[in-house]
Amino acid sequence: MLEVMDLYKSYHKGGFFSLKSRQEVLQGISFSVKAGECVGLIGESGSGKSTLSRLILGLEKTDKGEVKLEGDDIATWRKKYPGQMSAVFQDYNTSANPRFTIEEIIREPLFALQQKTELRAFILELMDKVGLSAKLLIRYPHELSGGQLQRVCLARAISTRPRIMVLDEALSSLDVYIQVQILELLRDLKRDLHLTYLFIAHDLQTITYLCDQILFLYQGRIVEQLAKGELSNAKNEYAKRLLASVITFGGQGQRVVYHKCKQIRQEVGV
Ligand SMILES: Nc1ncnc2c1ncn2[C@@H]1O[C@H](COP(=O)(O)OP(=O)(O)O)[C@@H](O)[C@H]1O
Ligand SMILES: [Mg+2]
Repeated sequence: MLEVMDLYKSYHKGGFFSLKSRQEVLQGISFSVKAGECVGLIGESGSGKSTLSRLILGLEKTDKGEVKLEGDDIATWRKKYPGQMSAVFQDYNTSANPRFTIEEIIREPLFALQQKTELRAFILELMDKVGLSAKLLIRYPHELSGGQLQRVCLARAISTRPRIMVLDEALSSLDVYIQVQILELLRDLKRDLHLTYLFIAHDLQTITYLCDQILFLYQGRIVEQLAKGELSNAKNEYAKRLLASVITFGGQGQRVVYHKCKQIRQEVGV
């Protein structure tokens, strides 16, 4: 479905005397994502993850290389299938217009698609899907907690029934309890709607929970690509280090946390 071919991107370093000097941010990135698959992209801060997501969404131009969706370039594909690609970013505060109510925020992309029928019922259904009370619809973004607002962004992102979603550290600022809830929702959506994901994160736990394939991005290059079941076969040093740290500190522990959260949620009935 998504094909990224030999992508390069650099930025001006800035400063008057360095006009010509550029920082290479992405170098020779190639990978593909099949329909219905979830590919995880992991890399430390500054490794180029957000730059890559902006290129894939067509928000910025590549220096070299191509991004194709079902064989079309992004602009063509998005015109052909409006609303079928959506994105959720880490910074939910800037993703939601502060002057809009929650209902208006969720309704916005639907209006753009001219889907006006049964809108109210559909929005209520979306709120329910992301685990939010309908009472929040009349509130403004600053009246919601970070976790609630990020779920509003998620509701909006799924409202247009996308086929592909890019999530750039969309869960990173949420606490584990909410992360689990959203991961489960994303999993359900993948199963029910055959959604395709590019899931970007800086921690392995969330990635392994959801993804079938994992790409390791290090200093602008993909240094390793592994299927979820093959993580122990990592050859690259960076990938191995990352995996080792998870196995020693998190591995079992994190799974216990997930299990606990699920249990707590069931107990409090949310
Ligand atoms: N618009 C931009 N102009 C200049 N430099 C940028 C721009 N966007 C990103 N960079 C630089 O590219 C590198 C990678 O950034 P980013 O893609 O945000 O990484 P990540 O999301 O993995 O933390 C950083 O060194 C950052 O400073
Ligand atoms: Mg980023």
